[in-house]
Amino acid sequence: MNSATALFKPGSAAAHLLSRINLNALPKHIAIIMDGNGRWARRRGLPRVAGHRAGIRATREVVETCSRLNVSVLTLFAFSMENWKRPRAEVNFLMQLLRTYIRKELPMLVQNNVRLQSIGRAHQLPGPVRQDLEKAIRTTEQNSGLCLNVALNYGARAELVDAFHSIVRAIKCNGLEEKSIDEELISRHLYTAGMPDPDLLIRTSGELRVSNFLLWQIAYSEIWVTPTLWPDFTKRELLEAILDYQRRDRRYGGLSDSDSAVGRIALHSGLSRGRH
Ligand code: FPP
Repeated sequence: MNSATALFKPGSAAAHLLSRINLNALPKHIAIIMDGNGRWARRRGLPRVAGHRAGIRATREVVETCSRLNVSVLTLFAFSMENWKRPRAEVNFLMQLLRTYIRKELPMLVQNNVRLQSIGRAHQLPGPVRQDLEKAIRTTEQNSGLCLNVALNYGARAELVDAFHSIVRAIKCNGLEEKSIDEELISRHLYTAGMPDPDLLIRTSGELRVSNFLLWQIAYSEIWVTPTLWPDFTKRELLEAILDYQRRDRRYGGLSDSDSAVGRIALHSGLSRGRH
């Protein structure tokens, strides 16, 4: 039994799903817009913050499953730059929840060889959150398994602004030549420098938006949307998303292998006919 199969009860629906997944063709990077906590709470007549608290279970399950599957990077959209517009009490609750999550989950992250990182303008987070986050990042920095990348005070347009500033600084101070600016260089100036782009972007709660998340990096991501609200999201649904991803034909603007072969034959016979 490998570490992934050990996660699922033999004979369960999730174990069956796992048996259909090609473990050699997993997405390297999965990014998730965890949405629907507020609606989950409202449907139960609970305050919105109860939905955020309930979201921790789903977060834990997804982290553990990605780690066992040997996914390289999992990016979770935990707090956007726009989220500061929410009532102060909700923002404070989310910040406190984040601290609790980091403190409580740290032993699990260490045990699962997970390396914690964050993307976003972390320097604008409240001091205590920053300190807990930095400590957890330092504690896990030597881990070689899943990179858990938490987007905090994150906005994709702000990330691009920061990247442009960083490139201009490199031109002014480090002698970077303007003509060496290409897509690869821009990627190296993003918060996600060194990480593969997401292969799979999951959004819960049924909204069909990308909400200013990883705009540069998701250029060729496969998108999977589920109506499930984040607190109800399970490892079984994660496996369904991966299975669906594995059925997709990723062409990156080109042709699929079979269409290329047909095209080559057609072109060849067309040319042959032309010659005779
Ligand atoms: C979106 O639901 C969710 C958030 C803004 C917060 C996400 C945070 C967690 C799931 C907590 C745990 C995660 C970590 C990494 C500590 P919403 O409030 O926008 O829901 P709604 O659209 O139904 O109102």
